[in-house]
Amino acid sequence: MFNSVGEFLEILKKQGELLEIDREVNPYLEISEISHRFVNNNGPALLFTHVKGSKIPVLQNLFASEKRMSLALGISHPDEIGDRIRNIYKQKAPEGLADKLTLFTTLLEAAKYPPKSVKNAPVQDVILKGKDASLDLLPIITCWPKDGGPYFTLPQVITEDPETGIRNVGMYRMQKYDAYTTGMHWQQHKHGASHFQKYRQLKKKMPVSVALGGPPVLTYASTAPLPENIDEYLFAGFIQKSPVRLIKSVTNDLKVPADADIIIEGYVDPEEDFRMEGPFGDHTGFYSLEDLYPVFHVTAITMRKNPVYPSTIVGVPPMEDYWLGYATERIFLPLAQMILPEIRDYHMPPEGVFHNLVFVSIRKQYPGHAFKVMQGLWGLGLLMLAKVIIILDDDVDVRNPSEAWWVALNHIDPKRDILFTRGPVDDLDHASQLPSFGSKMGIDATRKGPGEGFTRRWPDKITMDQSIIDTVSTYFDELKKKSNDLKK
Ligand SMILES: Cc1cc2nc3c(=O)[nH]c(=O)nc-3n(C[C@H](O)[C@H](O)[C@H](O)COP(=O)(O)O)c2cc1C
Repeated sequence: MFNSVGEFLEILKKQGELLEIDREVNPYLEISEISHRFVNNNGPALLFTHVKGSKIPVLQNLFASEKRMSLALGISHPDEIGDRIRNIYKQKAPEGLADKLTLFTTLLEAAKYPPKSVKNAPVQDVILKGKDASLDLLPIITCWPKDGGPYFTLPQVITEDPETGIRNVGMYRMQKYDAYTTGMHWQQHKHGASHFQKYRQLKKKMPVSVALGGPPVLTYASTAPLPENIDEYLFAGFIQKSPVRLIKSVTNDLKVPADADIIIEGYVDPEEDFRMEGPFGDHTGFYSLEDLYPVFHVTAITMRKNPVYPSTIVGVPPMEDYWLGYATERIFLPLAQMILPEIRDYHMPPEGVFHNLVFVSIRKQYPGHAFKVMQGLWGLGLLMLAKVIIILDDDVDVRNPSEAWWVALNHIDPKRDILFTRGPVDDLDHASQLPSFGSKMGIDATRKGPGEGFTRRWPDKITMDQSIIDTVSTYFDELKKKSNDLKK
């Protein structure tokens, strides 16, 4: 695994996966446009070494392919982590639902890689406090023309539950207001926001530290939808099979990654009025509108001697965040299967921007089974925000959206197979009747039987006889060659 983002960049360079751009570029929109062109092209990670107004290089598109996403986690495919989790569960075989949920924490702890405290850290080589701790030093990019300002787009926001002391690390964008304040865009369903509510009740200022960069697994872990009582840095240690090194912040008591590139320390005061945040060109492909969010105040900035500033742009999908979400989809499949073992696979295609569309394949066993599974999923962590869930039989490859749509559209009788319900929806949903509360649609696209009132015959999918396939395969290359020769 990598002790720093620098080590990871060396590997990427050797593999032809890093493009250094040394011409001067503007953090206002220009970096965004260049990054966008490469992201759509399956291009390399980008290191902008001459950014107007700052001495610090900007790193974009770090996770923007299946290969780099896997390399960042030190694996050859995200399914490997899912398999590790599945194996541990198999060995421990928990009985009830409560046992299953607590076992997840236990297994991470049992993995023997809890975060480790250190006394000296590269990220505190440079310490800036008071007026010296100015956000103007950082090359914060503006992503899209109608954005409310420049945004930190890959921050690891570190907070602690004031009741349990358990740490949370979440990726919540931060709009720069001025040299010493930003917005704190933790949406209400996220754990940073729930810590904030507790501080609000206690009428106490909330310490917040924000890490940028460091070993890439830390950035990924901050995007993972872990249960509230699980520390993301414990999870990161489990993924990388070595403890995350932490050091105490300089101006508050929160521990921060010793190997990060930059730390911004500060606080959010729950007594202070919220401030307008946004608009922001969001990962839905539309601007999310302005809204009121808490204000983060900077008390110190610490950094490596030669830090890199990591950033990303989101926008019309697919963008880099698709690959972070894809890793989560694969890594968390065994956890969904632990609660709902009939699930064979699931997939959230990029156009559905995670919360809008989930295809699920199941081993259907009884009438109404698809409805049981969709309702189970709406009760499972952030899947509560899923707008449309489509359940298919287990012979459908749900990771192939065109196959999933084809089968689903053939298999449904809309009036019979669609379930509308209501519940919490993503804060970014701009269509729901009310903000954050709206309707959801579950579609049962499985084969129907008499137990579901369907007494007609269900047709077979068209496939060729295997013996014919084998016969034609013995000479088909010859025909292909002749066909290719026609074009010469
Ligand atoms: C690039 C990127 C930006 C994100 N921005 C936000 C954001 O501004 N606000 C938010 O609540 N979630 C945002 N998320 C999603 C959260 O990081 C994700 O839901 C994570 O699980 C939250 O952590 P938590 O479950 O500990 O609260 C973003 C994710 C990515 C990949």
